[in-house]
Amino acid sequence: MNLDLHGKTALVTGGSRGIGRAIVERLLEAGAGVAFCGRDGESLSRTLDELRRRFAEETLKILARAADVRSEASVRELFEWIDLELGGPDILVNNAGVGVFRDVAALSPEEWSDVIETNLGGVYRCSHHAIPRMRARGGGWIINIGSLAGRNAFAGGAAYNASKFGLVGMSEAMMLDHRHEGIRVACILPGSVNTGFGHGQQADWKMAPEDVAEAVAAVLAMPERTLVSLVEMRPSRPPRR
Ligand SMILES: NC(=O)c1ccc[n+]([C@@H]2O[C@H](COP(=O)([O-])OP(=O)(O)OC[C@H]3O[C@@H](n4cnc5c(N)ncnc54)[C@H](OP(=O)(O)O)[C@@H]3O)[C@@H](O)[C@H]2O)c1
Repeated sequence: MNLDLHGKTALVTGGSRGIGRAIVERLLEAGAGVAFCGRDGESLSRTLDELRRRFAEETLKILARAADVRSEASVRELFEWIDLELGGPDILVNNAGVGVFRDVAALSPEEWSDVIETNLGGVYRCSHHAIPRMRARGGGWIINIGSLAGRNAFAGGAAYNASKFGLVGMSEAMMLDHRHEGIRVACILPGSVNTGFGHGQQADWKMAPEDVAEAVAAVLAMPERTLVSLVEMRPSRPPRR
């Protein structure tokens, strides 16, 4: 996919590993300046060092900062830091997410709140701070990483399904609200991806994080007149049930 993002800036939440990290790398390959966040400072520094080594030849800005998308104060500080260090962002990828898989009776109030406040509240908070900045720059992109769990419920998925079903609706409303001001909102719904997400098992039949990153690139590469607002993607050959 031919994508040129030179001169553009991006923020990827949950960029220290998994799908978020692959998206950070793909945006850097396209020439964007990229900031990413996560809660754990150590894994952020490790990823930042690796990426700075890999992209040492380029004059790209690669930045990372610890931030918790569940916290309004933390997200506000993250955006103030981006204003100073990077400017923008032109592109926000709301990727940070967690999964706790238990029925409602077994889910603690803290677990419920963790899933909803990260996967749904975090998207609200980051978008709330990004949209005025994008307006001031004349437009932008918000790409939300949803899940096929936002289409199909499964046993044990009460909190996760609620967060991702909610995200599909929220993304569509955001798309309708902001497209006339040049802010394009898309939601990507992957099936199983080979990451450590939710303590899931790694398996060869799953999609690679880079495949989701390529879908992000494909959405961003569309001509300005066209908005791909919803993408479903799934492994071609999952095990038969
Ligand atoms: N893997 C799959 O099969 C799959 C399928 C469909 C959709 N997805 C979605 O894809 C996204 C990424 O999943 P993944 O598989 O890459 O997961 P992952 O490997 O567990 O990575 C999650 C990332 O989010 C960060 N994060 C978690 N909570 C955060 C918070 N409160 N504030 C800031 N950052 C936070 C993590 O860093 P810290 O832990 O340091 O905060 C990490 O960088 C999620 O939204 C997930 O729902 C995954």
